[in-house]
Amino acid sequence: MNKRIVLASYPEGWVTESNFRVETAPIPKPGEGEVLVKNLWLSLDPYMRGRISQQKSYVKGVEIGEVMTGETAGEVLESRHPGFKPGDKVTAPSGWQLYWCGKGDLPTKVDASKVPLSYFLGCLGMPGRTAYFGMKEICAPKPGETVVVSAASGAVGSVVGQLARAWGCRAVGIAGGKAKCDYVVKELGFDACIDYKAGDLFENLKAACPKGVDALFENVGGEILDTMLRLMNLRSRIAICGLISDYNAKEPYGVKMFRSILVNRIKVQGMIVFDWQARYPEANQALLQLVTSGKLKTRESVVEGLENAPKGLIGLLKGENFGKQLVRLA
Ligand SMILES: NC(=O)c1ccc[n+]([C@@H]2O[C@H](COP(=O)([O-])OP(=O)(O)OC[C@H]3O[C@@H](n4cnc5c(N)ncnc54)[C@H](OP(=O)(O)O)[C@@H]3O)[C@@H](O)[C@H]2O)c1
Repeated sequence: MNKRIVLASYPEGWVTESNFRVETAPIPKPGEGEVLVKNLWLSLDPYMRGRISQQKSYVKGVEIGEVMTGETAGEVLESRHPGFKPGDKVTAPSGWQLYWCGKGDLPTKVDASKVPLSYFLGCLGMPGRTAYFGMKEICAPKPGETVVVSAASGAVGSVVGQLARAWGCRAVGIAGGKAKCDYVVKELGFDACIDYKAGDLFENLKAACPKGVDALFENVGGEILDTMLRLMNLRSRIAICGLISDYNAKEPYGVKMFRSILVNRIKVQGMIVFDWQARYPEANQALLQLVTSGKLKTRESVVEGLENAPKGLIGLLKGENFGKQLVRLA
């Protein structure tokens, strides 16, 4: 039997486990042109909060009773599509379930012979590509410039800072707590990481960025973005990748330092990774090269079993994850 998690109700404010329901159903049979995938890993991502909100967003949300949306990594069990055979490793838009059956143009075949399969949901998957394109196309840092990234120990942020270092920049992270900041500096090689929970955020960031900030990769928003606006240089760039501090808030924080954008002629651009879908192979190749050469490190936070996916998502939204948040399904 297939096990799946469906949306039971829309959250109001913070997500709760009661917003989800576990169901079982027969394992589907692939039709002509379809493949059946056994999912081994489920990715949990902050965007999922937006999918279960009734607010208008950039894609359609999950309806009540529908399988919760999400990307998985797994193995092809049966194929009636010429591009796949049993045993192939793939990522697929399966949602929160143990088996997925669908059209063969939807999964992506991956080569997990040199790296763990789960990496294709993290540093070699959507979060890695988000970091790559946001950095390359919006932050566009030159060697010697200072790049700051918030949620620096996370799936996207950890790649952003390591790319900044690989491209000859000063990389400064912002993260919650000493353990995460120590990891970012000692393991990932950032030049500095500021603990936003420790107080004196502005003073500490100013000291870590003695030449000001040329590029900000913003994952959090709210007070962190507002503080960063006070440190941005003339003609600096800000990639608005995520605003996680607002995702569960009833009212958005509201940026107060907007004036800095005017006086410093800052380029601020929102981004959604799939805008660069046609260029995914370029990012995949660059990231794989960095990972296999040991220049890009990663860390995973693993929740065991599909039933615990809601708990994992709630933890991720509260910052309890330490690295890319995954659910091990088998
Ligand atoms: N635009 C796109 O295409 C795109 C694609 C992927 C991800 N994103 C965005 O990128 C951001 C990071 O995603 P991710 O997958 O890499 O997640 P992640 O960083 O692995 O995990 C989320 C982290 O956000 C931090 N956080 C949560 N609430 C916070 C708050 N109130 N204030 C400050 N920090 C908070 C926590 O780290 P601390 O403990 O350090 O606070 C938490 O660990 C999210 O905003 C996400 O929506 C955007």
